[in-house]
Amino acid sequence: MAGTTGTAAAGTTDDRRIVAFCCRECAYAAADASANARTPLPPAVRLVLMPCTGRVSPLHLLSALAEGADGVMVAGCLLGQCHYREGNFMAVDRVAFVQRLLKSVGVEPERCRMFTMSAGEPPKFVAAVREMDRVIAGLPPLPRSEAGETRQAPLIGSAVDIGGPAPVAAAPLAAVGGAA
Ligand code: FES
Repeated sequence: MAGTTGTAAAGTTDDRRIVAFCCRECAYAAADASANARTPLPPAVRLVLMPCTGRVSPLHLLSALAEGADGVMVAGCLLGQCHYREGNFMAVDRVAFVQRLLKSVGVEPERCRMFTMSAGEPPKFVAAVREMDRVIAGLPPLPRSEAGETRQAPLIGSAVDIGGPAPVAAAPLAAVGGAA
């Protein structure tokens, strides 16, 4: 009932949800290549297509967790090879920021991770997703309110392209926390 991603991997939990924000240039291309090769991914994972990891804000990550994801991952180009120069460096900082935030409120920081790979490394993408799934599977479920459970539905779908401008204009970390 839950997933429609083809063959179901053995021993997985349908309740688990991991949202993977993937940059179009490398991570999503690697994911696409792995799908074309019919490499099975954990059914818990839902991909979100981003123009660059520099476009992923802490609010994207925290909103995904708040709305039903058990883990979030950011997957982008190798450091130094971002197609927008430094988007993935910004993403590294933001993931670290979210990890600190999670830890400060008693949530396991490993629920948010960053991975990098080139477009020509589908196995690296698959390994990252499986690693994330393995880590999340070992954590206790996040406590959910009734409202939180019902708002989970929008995350459960096929890849979404949120589009948007180039990542270089993204707000610095300090400004995100205090945004009006
Ligand atoms: Fe891939 Fe920036 S384009 S991380």
